[in-house]
Amino acid sequence: MQNVEVDLGDRSYPIYIGEQLFAQVDIAGLIKGRQVMIVTNETIAPLYLSALRDQLPALQVDEVILPDGESFKTLDTLNLIFDALLEMRHNRTTTLIALGGGVIGDMTGFAAASYQRGVDFIQIPTTLLSQVDSSVGGKTGVNHPRGKNMIGAFYQPKAVLADTDVLKTLPKRELAAGLAEVIKYGLIYDVEFLAWLEQNIDGLNECDPELLAYAIKRSCEIKAEVVAQDERESGIRAILNLGHTFGHAIETEQGYGNWLHGEAVGAGMWMAADLSHRLGWISAGDLARTETLLRRANLPVRAPDDMSPERFIELMSLDKKVLDGRIRLVLLKQLGEAIVTDSADPDLLRETLLSN
Ligand code: NAD
Ligand code: GLY
Repeated sequence: MQNVEVDLGDRSYPIYIGEQLFAQVDIAGLIKGRQVMIVTNETIAPLYLSALRDQLPALQVDEVILPDGESFKTLDTLNLIFDALLEMRHNRTTTLIALGGGVIGDMTGFAAASYQRGVDFIQIPTTLLSQVDSSVGGKTGVNHPRGKNMIGAFYQPKAVLADTDVLKTLPKRELAAGLAEVIKYGLIYDVEFLAWLEQNIDGLNECDPELLAYAIKRSCEIKAEVVAQDERESGIRAILNLGHTFGHAIETEQGYGNWLHGEAVGAGMWMAADLSHRLGWISAGDLARTETLLRRANLPVRAPDDMSPERFIELMSLDKKVLDGRIRLVLLKQLGEAIVTDSADPDLLRETLLSN
């Protein structure tokens, strides 16, 4: 088992990474009160719920099993968590445990942030994407029909358990979606990690546990470093959104869940790299290198054919990074270094949006 610490003063917390974590980590010891509400969904519950319950014998453990899917990441579904908490009389010392992917983690975190003005929560992410990204850093929330993750809060968990064993049941398409976020860390922050990914992508596609553990650890280290500098995204944290402004537009247009979040981010990162190349920042060779790695990770590298540049711009104008009406994009100064800019040449942006 390996540990990465997210250093946020008195709100610091550990990320445990490795195999068989349910047995290795004293989960009950992470819980302060006597009550626990496990939040999971109908796909994950039959796989892992009883193994988790077995680790919490002396406590009042209740569960809420939500419908599965990004299309259920809504205020209505969130209310089911509050209903269960109130029905089972959970008080302010309760702990919520998110057992699932990013959808469950984001909703559970937001429920924890707002139930009785804030209770503890623990993240047990079960997708690669949630292990390397969404369970770390405290962004929580739900979607609105007009935009993704538009309602939410910054609220940090007490601990994160990223168990590589659970990835064995993850569909291949979901694994690829998680690899998009892993590749993101190489592109924005660590060109050596990018080279390591190029060398090991075939093994990662095959779910090699040692390679996955290293990829998760390095991703979490980078995310922890960035979040520790800028928890509420007033500066550097925005670089974690490489490809996301384009990607969120794709997800919103296509209907939540039709393109997976990681797939939309994959296409979005190619678009960000393409624009960075048009701006003269990265070479044609670097753009090709980016595209090749994304393709080898089985990710889409172009936006859907039916999205016009005008529609992209309309949707991208809803992005949370928009400031004073100007779209701000994360682009690549070079491989391993990202910047946030609101002054990308609109004609070049249009060319990128047209290059499907
Ligand atoms: P997801 O939560 O929808 O999970 C993907 C699918 O895999 C679901 O059907 C789920 O039931 C299933 N699943 C999960 N674990 C499994 C397992 N071990 N075995 C078999 N099936 C399993 O999707 P995701 O990719 O984990 O997360 C995407 C969400 O995360 C989006 O809503 C996105 O906005 C959010 N996100 C948040 C942050 C953040 O910082 N908070 C960062 C990135 C993404
Ligand atoms: N996934 C982007 C962030 O956490 O800031």
